[in-house]
Amino acid sequence: MSKTSLSSILPDPQKAATSKAQQVEQMFDRIAGSYDRLNNWISMGFHKQWKRQACQKLQLKPGHQALDVCTGTGDLIAYLLPLVGEQGQVCGLDFSAQMLSFAQQRYQNQAQVALTQGDALALPYEDNRFDGAIISFGLRNVTDIPKALAEMHRVIKPGGWMVNLDTAPKPLLPGMQFYFSKIVPLLGGLLAQDSQAYQYLSNSTQHFLTPQELKRLFEQVGCVNVESQTLMLGSVSLQAGQKPF
Ligand SMILES: C[S@@+](CC[C@H](N)C(=O)[O-])C[C@H]1O[C@@H](n2cnc3c(N)ncnc32)[C@H](O)[C@@H]1O
Repeated sequence: MSKTSLSSILPDPQKAATSKAQQVEQMFDRIAGSYDRLNNWISMGFHKQWKRQACQKLQLKPGHQALDVCTGTGDLIAYLLPLVGEQGQVCGLDFSAQMLSFAQQRYQNQAQVALTQGDALALPYEDNRFDGAIISFGLRNVTDIPKALAEMHRVIKPGGWMVNLDTAPKPLLPGMQFYFSKIVPLLGGLLAQDSQAYQYLSNSTQHFLTPQELKRLFEQVGCVNVESQTLMLGSVSLQAGQKPF
């Protein structure tokens, strides 16, 4: 009988997670140049309204410090800056060097913006540092969702808010499913020459957690006053929770 152990035959969950993270990082590096343009097309410009709404949930005030996890090209930072004002600071973190390079170009003359290359699953910030933390269209991509939320909870101050904005599975209108699974990859192929990356957007959305499941995870990591809602006929989900005082 073979002495091969079962653990050497079965896929190692750690290795599988590392490989998924590498694939996601490489994919965003690849599409970084067309990312913002495609976002405008795919959401028909609605992502701006969702992002503004999500940032409001952080209840930031002038002088506050905010964290944007999975900041990508830093698009969301533009909505956070007016909320924290000139005395405040916005930190943006992402693991894709290419996505971050666009954020760097965009905010090169803005002293209130600090960009860091790092992992959402091991945030390089001390406990209780930020007045609020947000993740937008990022959570679906991480290999350990509870860990990413726990990290956001760790780095916000007691009383601070954390927010998630992302696509949601099972939209109310069946046409939405068709749009995401067929039209979006087509647009990705035409406008970004990368239909595979935009097929991933559709697949990862279909397998993502429901708004109710995300609400429960916010509570499990220790948030109180957790709210969860859907936007755009159930195709986008938004959660906000507060770290207890
Ligand atoms: C769809 S983009 C969202 C960008 C931006 N937040 C927005 O709303 O436009 C997802 C981003 O998450 C980043 N990302 C995915 N997993 C990550 C991780 N574990 N740590 C850091 N960044 C990650 C990707 O590199 C990518 O830039």
